[in-house]
Amino acid sequence: MTQINVKVDGVEYSDDVEPRTLLVHYLREQLGKVGTVVGCDTSNCGACTVHLDGRSVKSCNVLAVQVDGHEVTTIEGIADGDTLHRMQQAFHDAHALQCGFCTPGMIMQAIDVLNEHPDADEETIRVGLEGNLCRCTGYHNIVKAVQAAQSGGAQ
Ligand code: FES
Ligand code: FES
Repeated sequence: MTQINVKVDGVEYSDDVEPRTLLVHYLREQLGKVGTVVGCDTSNCGACTVHLDGRSVKSCNVLAVQVDGHEVTTIEGIADGDTLHRMQQAFHDAHALQCGFCTPGMIMQAIDVLNEHPDADEETIRVGLEGNLCRCTGYHNIVKAVQAAQSGGAQ
């Protein structure tokens, strides 16, 4: 076991993890943050996307020991109390989900895309989301949601 100290969704944690534990499993199984989901185990689907020091990463592709001393934000940490993050609200308003399984990772990736490219055009948004797969929506409403959040200035 290796001890890690990490801030997750604004709370400091100090935990023992096995060196082989993936970040997504640490988040879900040790911290109970099941909003971050596993859609594959091959780094393909993006469902597990979280922010590590403010940039998106696929948490099935990061070891828990690698976040020692760092800050992680999950889908559970972006709302302000009962007020949704504007990207969450935009997905809701634009009907940008059906089953919702891809949605946590999609939202975390979309926030990162707009943080990096505040003036992103549609093509840039689509390219930015290409590592996140959705089996349901055809992506159209997802892009519309990101554009709506963009016009409101996503955080
Ligand atoms: S679960 Fe991480 S990319 Fe699919
Ligand atoms: S809403 Fe079902 S996978 Fe995207």
